[in-house]
Amino acid sequence: MTLRSAAPPHNAGFDLKQWMQVQLHDVERALEEWVVSKPDVATGCRAPQDLINAMRYAVLDGGKRLRPLLVLAGYDAAQNQAGGQDAFVQSRVAALRAACAVELIHAYSLVHDDMPCMDNDVLRRGKATVHVKFGEAGALLAGDALQALAFELLTPDDGSVAPLTQAGLCGLLARAAGSSGMAGGQAIDLASVGRVLDEQHLREMHQQKTGALLRCSVLMGAHCASASASALHALEIYGGAIGLAFQVVDDILDVTSDSATLGKTAGKDADNDKPTYVSLMGLQGSQQYAKRLLDQALSALDQSGLNNTAALAALADMVVNRTH
Ligand code: IPE
Ligand code: IPE
Ligand code: MG
Ligand code: MG
Ligand code: MG
Repeated sequence: MTLRSAAPPHNAGFDLKQWMQVQLHDVERALEEWVVSKPDVATGCRAPQDLINAMRYAVLDGGKRLRPLLVLAGYDAAQNQAGGQDAFVQSRVAALRAACAVELIHAYSLVHDDMPCMDNDVLRRGKATVHVKFGEAGALLAGDALQALAFELLTPDDGSVAPLTQAGLCGLLARAAGSSGMAGGQAIDLASVGRVLDEQHLREMHQQKTGALLRCSVLMGAHCASASASALHALEIYGGAIGLAFQVVDDILDVTSDSATLGKTAGKDADNDKPTYVSLMGLQGSQQYAKRLLDQALSALDQSGLNNTAALAALADMVVNRTH
């Protein structure tokens, strides 16, 4: 079997760093604005300041922002600008809202994942976890409120996002976050402590708890760009492959890396007796599996008929070859 190199050949000339810089600038600015810093009667925001503080602590100032980047890369890949400049600007606004919404769901999932009733972690994104800083009830409520805010972002009432686009985005995100997606996968994860899962069950757990949200990110971006059915099909395969690969690599890094590099406590999976790809296949087997998933993702892009897939290809490479 031949494995692709770290630099996908069809990505020649694409500057991921520069592309990311532009996207991250927009995402960070939007998050800073949309996760408001204080109550404001004029806008109807009556949130208690303590809750606001916990929400902003969970979201701002940290994180790779991979899910927002996937939304925006999915959008770039599917965008054809056929509708002219106005439609382009409107769809890009929707994509930025989708990018931030999925990051809010992700941030909420981390807040709850770290709580004593789940993984009981004290370090996240290089800082004390939200429950350590704001108490367990504070963390629980910050997570709840971030989840609701995600859907608020997807449903602006200022006419900037078409109702059909809003509905499609809400459906995609709700399904990926809910009982058949992230929350369901987390439930399986907790029920699997101390058990040995076979490959199929481990894969299903990872696909739900982590893969669903990454796959959904790509599809949300494509939805904003009104992607064709065949493009969506290819992007579903791409998203499924990198979604699973992401958690396989997370399992690997938990063993091979250290807390300072990860910004979260290394070695927790073994400590918590969690079934992982490393416990099932060993380190080398897991690394090879992640590379096979990268191959699958890149093949799906090759066969998608889409022209502008350089960012998606580069992000897939980053998912598998990352160090944190
Ligand atoms: C960590 O996700 C949790 C998993 C789903 C494995 P990330 O590694 O994307 O965390 P941040 O957003 O960069 O902190
Ligand atoms: C978390 O998986 C997946 C989520 C849905 C948050 P992990 O429990 O492995 O994530 P880390 O390692 O704590 O970031
Ligand atoms: Mg966990
Ligand atoms: Mg965890
Ligand atoms: Mg982990």
